[in-house]
Amino acid sequence: MAQPEANYDETKVPKFTVPDPLMTFSGEAITDRDQWEKKRKLEIYQFFEKQIYGKVPTMLDEYSFEVIEEDNNALGGKAQRKQIAVGLKKNNRSLNFNILLYLPKGNENAPVFLGYNFHGNHTVTDDPKVFITEAWNANDIALNIKNNKATEASRGSRKDRWAVDKILDNGFGLATVYYGEIDPDKNDFSDGLHSLFYREGQNRPKTNEWGSIAAWAFGLSRAMDYLENDTNISKVIVFGHSRLGKAALWAGASDPRFDGVISNNSGCGGAALSKRKYGETIGHINNSFPHWFSESFKKYSNKEEILPVDQHQLLALIAPRPLYVASAAEDEWADPKGEFLSAQYATSVYALYGKKGISKSDSPLVDRPIQETLAYHIRSGKHDVTDYDWDQYISWAQNFVK
Ligand code: GCU
Repeated sequence: MAQPEANYDETKVPKFTVPDPLMTFSGEAITDRDQWEKKRKLEIYQFFEKQIYGKVPTMLDEYSFEVIEEDNNALGGKAQRKQIAVGLKKNNRSLNFNILLYLPKGNENAPVFLGYNFHGNHTVTDDPKVFITEAWNANDIALNIKNNKATEASRGSRKDRWAVDKILDNGFGLATVYYGEIDPDKNDFSDGLHSLFYREGQNRPKTNEWGSIAAWAFGLSRAMDYLENDTNISKVIVFGHSRLGKAALWAGASDPRFDGVISNNSGCGGAALSKRKYGETIGHINNSFPHWFSESFKKYSNKEEILPVDQHQLLALIAPRPLYVASAAEDEWADPKGEFLSAQYATSVYALYGKKGISKSDSPLVDRPIQETLAYHIRSGKHDVTDYDWDQYISWAQNFVK
């Protein structure tokens, strides 16, 4: 369906009431942590679960982990590398994905950043020992990915987005998974994780069930199942860029085992407020990516005003755990201001726990991070993950997560 053009004019942003995280749907004020956790958090969570990302239908029948490759002297001796095969089973159908894990040598108990990559574990580093994914891959000429298949030619092609040396040199580990191994990013529900769960005759999720973002979030939790049992890992901070930032936020909101969450330029359906209708809107996203959210979310396309929640409440579900929201100044499609306001409006929930976030007097100054338990920065430049972003995440994690 043709969609209205994106609005980039601040004077045309509609006037709207920001749904108050601390007021229940029936109008009851929430004044303490206990009320928040028992009443409000639950109803907000259930709304996001049923109306936005979609519910996971049931649990898996079985899952397994196998370390299939290991080297205590990786990356010139600074890291321990492990590659772990995770097997998921349901209804006699199975799916496998691989975790690439680097841990800093000499730190027996390291905090780890866990994040999906867009084109395969072998794209995040030149390391010749990293396995090349067999899964369907979106073609990308710049990254040398053709015929929907990754080959040796794309090794290291995305290393600029993963400051692997910096992460390790600062005492952190890195775990990454190719998101296409969980659910190929195309409007086709016949493959990937969803298909394991179908009953006879079913070929797509039900109206309130999961789209791809919820499936990717589920995959992050399965990676967590392994990481939380690795005795060399102390904490896990889930990270994601763009569509994978949306998945990281939903994973953080739905799985309390994540010790921290980072949303890098996640935009619409991620950290950005939907009701501003600035840049990408719910109409645009449901139209271009009909498989990302639950079917029930489509009723809000171009009707953001009837949504009883907004994305700051997704951020609030992560409280009191450390959360970093990051924007890029030239990434107007993701609505940097909407991401900032979202962090600011979620802060009242952090305050219930005595934690700081973005105060009412703060404003988003380019390249001037605000680092509290709930942190925010807007970096100069475009939609991307840069060394500047990683420098901020590392210093924030050192103070708030480690
Ligand atoms: C598109 C999409 C965004 C998404 C981005 C990405 O631009 O509209 O919602 O965040 O892709 O994942 O890079």
